[in-house]
This record gives sequence, structure tokens and C-alpha cells, in this order.
Amino acid sequence: MSTATLTQLAIHGGPKAKTTPYTTGKRYLDNELAYLKDALEQNSLFYANPKAKWVKRACEMMKTYTGMPYAFMVTSGSAAVHLGLIAAGIGPGDEVILSPNTDTGTAMGIIEEGAVPVFADPEFTMQLSVDSIAKRITPRTKAVIVVHLAGEPAPIDKIVEFCHAKGIKVIEDCAQSWGAKLHGKPVGSFADAGCYSTNDYKHISTGDGGFIVVRDETTFRRVANYGDKHYDRLFGGSQYQQHHGVNYRVSELLGAVCVAQLEKVDQITSRQHDIGDRLRGLLKGLPGGRMAPQSEGAYSSYWWSMLLVDVEKMSVGRDELIKAIQAEGVGVDSSQRYDLVQFDLYKKRVVRPWLPEPLNQYPFTQPDGREYHYSIDDLPRQKQIMATGIRININTFYSDQDVDETAAGIWKVFEAYAKA
Ligand SMILES: Cc1ncc(COP(=O)(O)O)c(C=O)c1O
Repeated sequence: MSTATLTQLAIHGGPKAKTTPYTTGKRYLDNELAYLKDALEQNSLFYANPKAKWVKRACEMMKTYTGMPYAFMVTSGSAAVHLGLIAAGIGPGDEVILSPNTDTGTAMGIIEEGAVPVFADPEFTMQLSVDSIAKRITPRTKAVIVVHLAGEPAPIDKIVEFCHAKGIKVIEDCAQSWGAKLHGKPVGSFADAGCYSTNDYKHISTGDGGFIVVRDETTFRRVANYGDKHYDRLFGGSQYQQHHGVNYRVSELLGAVCVAQLEKVDQITSRQHDIGDRLRGLLKGLPGGRMAPQSEGAYSSYWWSMLLVDVEKMSVGRDELIKAIQAEGVGVDSSQRYDLVQFDLYKKRVVRPWLPEPLNQYPFTQPDGREYHYSIDDLPRQKQIMATGIRININTFYSDQDVDETAAGIWKVFEAYAKA
């Protein structure tokens, strides 16, 4: 790459590194339409109707995809993680460890169950590790939710071994990691439950939706019942409510679109893998920046990618770098939403403002008087990632030229601002 000067930067009036708009494409094609039509012609869109086939088919495909023997389709990734906690037997007052570097959907189910989110500091891979989890374990720890963030597998094999030896359940949040593998095995198939999202921003989409996969029939029955008003519908049991449950059911319309999307998932994630690898290769040796490291044995499906800035080596801060790269026409941002402890919910601890104190702080204030407070200062690596990270967008439809120009724009800006 050639050495750029400040005056050549697009932010100072120079030509943009990105010479054409990013390539886009159609996510929904003939099969989505054909399957939707078929679903409508069933004359019932209810997933458990004897005539209904699409949600059942999508669940069968998920079993094959993950190698897990039981799958249940739900309304969202958040719903899937919530059911993961039900699978793990979480109850009020239990502590659940997770990374703050994630979407809020990872944590919502914990709060919903009256359990307590406990944030562990992610590694610079952005993932949890055995070490980071070990530091947060207490006698109250009941489960760990391991997010495979950005299509990058966490070291889930080691985490499961470590946690299971302590009787702690592990839930995998694979919302961003369709197609990702560790040592050749798909994420979502290592732990007690694997949870997926098909919201509109994921590798595959049904607009909203998700899956949970689990290992044994008893757990499956528990989550399927809990997710369907606690009717025992799939097991031919009572259809009067036996216990508490929620309604996370999806209609056949979602199932139909999902089948068509699952038919393409390998193609999408392998393209995304190639794009991400190409980008990492092109950004090697960047002065003052390095891509977030990856877990050993990782096959990433790069839902996005993180570039960490060595701010000491640059003459401007991270935010100025982002503005200059964006001016080059390159898709980057700062990923600030993935910093849960910085949300008012955790800083101010008002969970349900319509309730009187201290009930409005439940579960952060527990009935036995335990109080949980959250601060980014307890999470030094997360703080550094948030202060120095540049999130690089990746999309399945990117052409090789898009990837090359993305790298060229980043190089141009880093070279211009690197201290001599
Ligand atoms: C890591 C992670 N977990 C959970 C979720 C929640 O998924 P959904 O939006 O489908 O509820 C998301 C969604 O962005 C996510 O990225």
C-alpha cells in the first residue's frame, strides 16, 4: 500500500478510497416465495397443526445443521436465550455470568427470571475465556452464557469442560455466529443449549425469529412447554396450562421463510468467511492497528470484524480515525451498543420504573438484601476494547473489490495519522 498524506484523505477533500457503492443483493428469492405460498395453502399457519410442515421442517434442518438432537423455533434470539436459561434451570437469585460485549438480548432473560447478570471481562478476542469466567464464579453461579460474538467462536470447548466440572450450566449464544466452528465443530453444539437469532441483521433472516437446540428430551420438553404457554402440545399431553410459560411460538410463515434461508446458510457463511479472511490478510501490518485476535481452532463466519487501535502510535484518537475512514466511503463504526454495563439499566439500576422502591430494582437488589452494582471500571479489557475498537462492517454481498477498497481506505487513514 502506498503511503498516504493528510491532504489526500477524503475528509480533507481528497478522493475517496471507496470508488463505488458497496454491492448489495436480494436476500429473499424464489424459494422464500414458493414456500410462503405453500404455507398459506395449508389453510393453517399454526406450527402444531397436523397439516403444518414448515416450522417442523426448519427444526429438522436445525438439528442436522448443529448435530443437536432437539430444536425449537421461537420468535427471537432473545427468546431463545431466555429458554436456554429455562433449560439450565435458572431461578430467582441465581447468578449468571456473561460478557458485557453483546446485544442486550443476551441478558434480558436473566433479568426476566429474577436472576442476576454478572459481567465477566472479555479477552481481546472479545470473547469470554475460562480465566475471565473463573474470576466471577461464586457459590451462587448457576450458569454462564457464552456469546460467540461477531461470528468468532469463543473457546467453548474449554469453557464447557471447566464449568461442567463445577456443576455450572453453559448456554451458547450463537445469534451472530451462524456457520462458525471451533476445531471443526459447529458452535451451538458444545454446551447445554445453543441459541440462534434470525432477526433482520443476522447471516440469515426471517425478519425476527430464532431457535434453541438442546441435548435431551426432558430439557426439550421443558423448553417447548415453557415457550408454548406451558401446554404439553408436542408430547401429546395436556393442553391446559400446567405451570407458568410464555408464548414464543412462531407461525408457519416464519417457518417457510426460514427453510429457504437455511437452504442458503452454508453459502452465505462461507462467503462471509472468505470476505473476513481476505480483509484480515489485507490489514496485516497496519501501522497502529491490529485485528482482534481469534480463538485457537476458530473458523469464523465474520458477522463483522473488530480492529483494535494502538492509540499511542496514532496522532489522533479512535473517533477521529472512524470519521476519516467513513469519509473514505468505508463502512465502520464504534460498536458502542455492545457495552451493556454502560446502559442506564445497569448504571441506574431501575428495572421496572412503575414499581415502588426497592421492588423497582429487582433483581439487582434481591429480597435477601444482596445488591449488585455495575461499573465499566471492573472490566478493564472491555473498557479498552470500547475505547479503541473500530468495528468493520461485513456483508455477504460484498464483492472482492469492496473488500479491497475497505482495506485500502483503512490503510490510507492509518498511514496518514500514524506517528512517524
Ligand atoms: C449476540 C446476540 N444475542 C442475542 C441477540 C438477540 O436476538 P434478537 O434480536 O433476535 O432477539 C442478538 C441480536 O442482535 C445478538 O446479537
